[in-house]
Amino acid sequence: MKKKIFNAAVIGLGVGIHHVNALEKHSNCRVKKVYDFKKSIQTKFKKNFPYIEFAKNENEIFQDKEINIVSIASYDNFHYNQIIKCIKYKKNIIVEKPICLTQKQLSSINNLLKKTNLKITSNMVLRTTGLFREIKKKTLNKDIISIEADYLWGRSHKLYQWRSKINDYSIIHGCAIHVIDLVLWLLEKKPIKVYAIGNNIGVDSKKFKKNSYVIILLKYNNKLIVKITANAISVFPHFHELKIYSKNSSIIHNLQGSIEIIGNKKKKKLSSNYPDKKSRFNIIHSFVDNLKNRYTRSIVDKKDIMNSMSISLAAEKSLKTGKEIEIKYEN
Ligand SMILES: NC(=O)c1ccc[n+]([C@@H]2O[C@H](COP(=O)([O-])OP(=O)(O)OC[C@H]3O[C@@H](n4cnc5c(N)ncnc54)[C@H](O)[C@@H]3O)[C@@H](O)[C@H]2O)c1
Repeated sequence: MKKKIFNAAVIGLGVGIHHVNALEKHSNCRVKKVYDFKKSIQTKFKKNFPYIEFAKNENEIFQDKEINIVSIASYDNFHYNQIIKCIKYKKNIIVEKPICLTQKQLSSINNLLKKTNLKITSNMVLRTTGLFREIKKKTLNKDIISIEADYLWGRSHKLYQWRSKINDYSIIHGCAIHVIDLVLWLLEKKPIKVYAIGNNIGVDSKKFKKNSYVIILLKYNNKLIVKITANAISVFPHFHELKIYSKNSSIIHNLQGSIEIIGNKKKKKLSSNYPDKKSRFNIIHSFVDNLKNRYTRSIVDKKDIMNSMSISLAAEKSLKTGKEIEIKYEN
């Protein structure tokens, strides 16, 4: 049987370079075109990938009928319009988080996608991490009392680049969303309410005017409580700390190590990989596999994206209003 080859394109070549590498490494895929509006990027890219075309603008990608996957790794404020163009020009979509910045945009993406057969995924990399997969096996369906998950960014310089210049940038949508997605995936349950508070202590407020630290509380209808934080400027290595407490066993993953505590005394070291960067390609590979064969699951699908984004938007609303917010999920 003839091998099906998907033609892909990538817009934005920061983290987008990893999308290029992942797509190129899939045996059913090739990257036909890329685009980045910084000219300096083009020279560097051409040295490493002389066989991939560098488009003159993004429309050249959308209008290319041979391209059936577009990967969007531009700044957050461009994602929505680029997704709408993908739908208009019938391209399957890989989009960096956050996929959009408002509830209206989220509903519009959901409703437009429902009228097509197009598929969408987003780069929620923590789901592929060996350690978190091991933890999920140990904790799924256990009686968990609470979870604490912290996104310690440890890359404060990034806050002062494009993130300080665009409207509606939010560290909830930019950072916390990764651990929101991790918790959704670990529990396979959706919270019903959210409350968020934040501050900007230590920030150069002339450059960055929003919250750089947030605490988000998620409430579930079975009384479970999850605490999520996003911490953009503290001195700390880039790290995703996780604590899962239940009556008979607890899990602690922090800079000191990763352990399971069983009963009162017994400590068991968890040895699966963290941060496990090599596994991150699996998000994009599983997406292409799913396009090839609908019985193969994409690690992150439309429902997953809609759920994490709905929680993120509700948390942002809580941060702005100071009120607890009921989460409105897309269906
Ligand atoms: N999933 C993850 O783990 C992860 C990690 C980092 C960044 N991101 C997301 O990826 C996106 C890009 O962030 P980054 O860290 O790569 O930023 P970056 O500044 O390192 O790189 C972005 C690149 O995209 C280009 N670009 C931006 N908008 C463009 C547009 N409309 N058209 C063409 N080129 C455009 C810029 O010129 C730049 O070269 C953001 O949405 C961010 O939230 C996700």
